[in-house]
Formats: sequence, C-alpha cells, structure tokens
Amino acid sequence: MLYNDIYLRLLETEDINERYISWFQDKSVTEYLESSNFTINESKEYLNKGKFNDEYYLFAICLTANNLHIGNIKIGPFKKKYGLSDLVTIIGDKEYWGKNVASLAIRKAVKIGFKSAKLRKFSASIDSLNKGSIKAYLKGGFIEEAEIPNYFIRKNKSELIASNKIFIGINNKEYDIDYFKNWSPINKTSNFWKYFTINEN
Ligand SMILES: CC(C)(COP(=O)(O)OP(=O)(O)OC[C@H]1O[C@@H](n2cnc3c(N)ncnc32)[C@H](O)[C@@H]1OP(=O)(O)O)[C@@H](O)C(=O)NCCC(=O)NCCS
Repeated sequence: MLYNDIYLRLLETEDINERYISWFQDKSVTEYLESSNFTINESKEYLNKGKFNDEYYLFAICLTANNLHIGNIKIGPFKKKYGLSDLVTIIGDKEYWGKNVASLAIRKAVKIGFKSAKLRKFSASIDSLNKGSIKAYLKGGFIEEAEIPNYFIRKNKSELIASNKIFIGINNKEYDIDYFKNWSPINKTSNFWKYFTINEN
C-alpha cells in the first residue's frame, strides 16, 4: 500500500452498521483491545460521546480506490493541559492486515495531530505480545519509551501468560498547547481530511 492508497475522514454514525460491529465480535481483532462485542447503538453513543465532550475523535480509514471503510483510528483521549493524546488503531477488515495500512494510517493521524491540532505528543501503550501493533507504530514514526513488566495477564488453555505494557511516543517540535486546547476537527468537510492527509508527504 502506498501513502495515497488510503485516506482518513471523521467516522460518522452512518458508518456504524452490521459489518462494522462484526469487527468487534471477532476475537482476533479484539484480543488486545479493552472493549469488544458492542451493539450498534452503544457504538454510536461512544462515537458521539467523544465529539460531545471533546475527549477523542474517531476517524475512518478508507481505501482511496473505492472508499471502502476498513478500520478506525482514534485520536484521543486527550490530556489537553499537557498537549497529549493517545492514538488507537484498528484494522477491522482482516483482508487488509499485513499490508502496511496501519502504519500509513498512523502516519496520517500523526500529521493531523501535529499540523492541524498542534498537539505536543502522542503517547500510547501496547501489550508486548501484540507484535503487529508494535511494528506498525514504530513504522509510523513512534519510538519505544518505557515498559512495565508483567502488566497484562491472559489465560492460554490452562496456563496463565503474563506480558508487558510498552509505552510508545512521538513528539511534535512545533506544538502549541493553547491552540490545541481550542482545536476541534468538527465542521471540517470530509474532503478536508481526505486532502489534508493525501497532500502531505
Ligand atoms: C495491529 C494492527 C493495527 C496492525 O495492522 P496492519 O495494517 O496489519 O499493520 P501493518 O501492515 O502496517 O504492520 C506493519 C508491520 O507489522 C507486521 N505485522 C502485522 N501484523 C503482525 C503480526 N501479527 N505479527 C508480526 N508482524 C505483524 C506487518 O507485516 C508489517 O511488517 P513489514 O513492515 O515488515 O512488512 C492490526 O493487526 C489490527 O487492527 N489488530 C487488531 C486491533 C489491535 O490490536 N490494534 C492495536 C491496539 S494497540
């Protein structure tokens, strides 16, 4: 996948359909996620809550060729006081796993965060067993910053397996915390996101 083969746009309630919900019912997609198995209504509420509280914004990852929505990237939750944001990536359509989509989406989301929102730093954390995710974020420009040993625990048959929590981050030299405090992606047309992310190299 090339940089221009995908684009990001704000996720809309109309995007939340049975196909979308099925992503979160798939154990291999949700294995390392905090939540799974939500209904269409719960999912719509979650989307609107982020916008309403200016806490986080969900973006749809779409193929440029046919506009197919294949995953989400969430910018937030924010810690506006410190100019910080989390970043969570999900490629729901597994047909597109291992094709570089996540690393490209991460790069594009970082550009939105740095250039449009002028936030100071993205700071995210990943289960050390989630190798694909770690690789995608590192390819997306993040670096490993810290590790908490023995943080997660999961049952594999009768065995308990512990894993580490890895903190990854990427810093913006041209941040502006006051600007970021008042930033919102709402009221920008979907074309804004499409062209904003496509034109940047
Ligand atoms: C993790 C996830 C986002 C990766 O998406 P992706 O589009 O497949 O990632 P990319 O193709 O950009 O991956 C970058 C690299 O990691 C590799 N990779 C992807 N999945 C992998 C896996 N399970 N194990 C090892 N390497 C993997 C890719 O092959 C690629 O390597 P390359 O650069 O050598 O070719 C996707 O698998 C997913 O949505 N998983 C479920 C949700 C999730 O766990 N999200 C992360 C929450 S922190």
